[in-house]
Amino acid sequence: MNITNLPDPKPFRARLTAWFRRHGRDLPWRRDTSPYAVLVSEFMLQQTQVATVIPYFERWMQRFPDFATLAAAGEADVLSQWQGLGYYSRARNLHRAAKLIVERFDGNLPDDNDAIASLPGVGRYTAGAIAAFAFDRSVATVDGNIARVLARLLDHREAIDSGEGQAFIWQTAEALLPARGGRLHTSALMELGALLCTPRAPQCLLCPVREYCSAKEPEKVPLKKARARTIALDEPCAWIRRRDAILLEKQTGSRWRGMWKLPGTAPRESVPLHTAEYPFTNHRVTLRVFAGRSTKTLGENQAWICDADLDALPLTAPHRRAIRALLSRDTAAS
Ligand code: ADE
Repeated sequence: MNITNLPDPKPFRARLTAWFRRHGRDLPWRRDTSPYAVLVSEFMLQQTQVATVIPYFERWMQRFPDFATLAAAGEADVLSQWQGLGYYSRARNLHRAAKLIVERFDGNLPDDNDAIASLPGVGRYTAGAIAAFAFDRSVATVDGNIARVLARLLDHREAIDSGEGQAFIWQTAEALLPARGGRLHTSALMELGALLCTPRAPQCLLCPVREYCSAKEPEKVPLKKARARTIALDEPCAWIRRRDAILLEKQTGSRWRGMWKLPGTAPRESVPLHTAEYPFTNHRVTLRVFAGRSTKTLGENQAWICDADLDALPLTAPHRRAIRALLSRDTAAS
């Protein structure tokens, strides 16, 4: 593939890294660059913003300070600590990765590409990020921020989420790599995308590498393929109380396995006690909670959970919000 508009890598990197040294944020996973801290932070950052991740990361590192502690923890404990970050398969993969690292490598992730890439939930981006951030390797990696920076730098006017677009961006990332010092270089590229080369209203006047940039209309780049339409989904649930307990149901599907929720019910015509909307991948879910009647026999995976035990229970965020709202209503009414 022919890469046109590529800047001279050496002075480009010098400008970029000088800027990063002055303006890069002091993030907790930049202080602790152990493979464990890097793996935890990268899993959390896969679908969640930095500001949201910081308190979760700090709590997690207190609770599970290393691979061995995480590997020995129970699934409910792990999911509880993740709750609110969403996309729970990340937490399950991280837990499985910790177990594998304890079994295979005695609790220390080695500086070895095959070992890193073999971990569950570790794709090309995360493998590159671990090699760069934890082991200071000079390997290419591309996340959304880096892809945007590179697409603008080269004024790439084709979709970057196609097979060809991805190949182009990864090759560009490779062409700009230094001989060593992958941590600084990758952090700086990512930070430029996070702080200045932002999706909307990029701050080109402050950009340390603007003289190398070919973008003519940076806010229009990168281009993406047309997005899948949003699909509306209904989620009718029941609110069933018995003294100071609530009927809840443990989920078994692949996405939320191990997390608890209000039990599902058939759709109703009556007025719900509580309604909320939340996004989920390309869906817009409407959660409606209806008053339900207590039954003697419990469904599979159902249990009465005392109000006092709710805090320690892994619950999906929309259901926790619904339960909190309904409990405070009950308290106000009584
Ligand atoms: N997004 C993904 N990984 C990141 C990191 N290590 N620092 C800041 N933002 C990120």
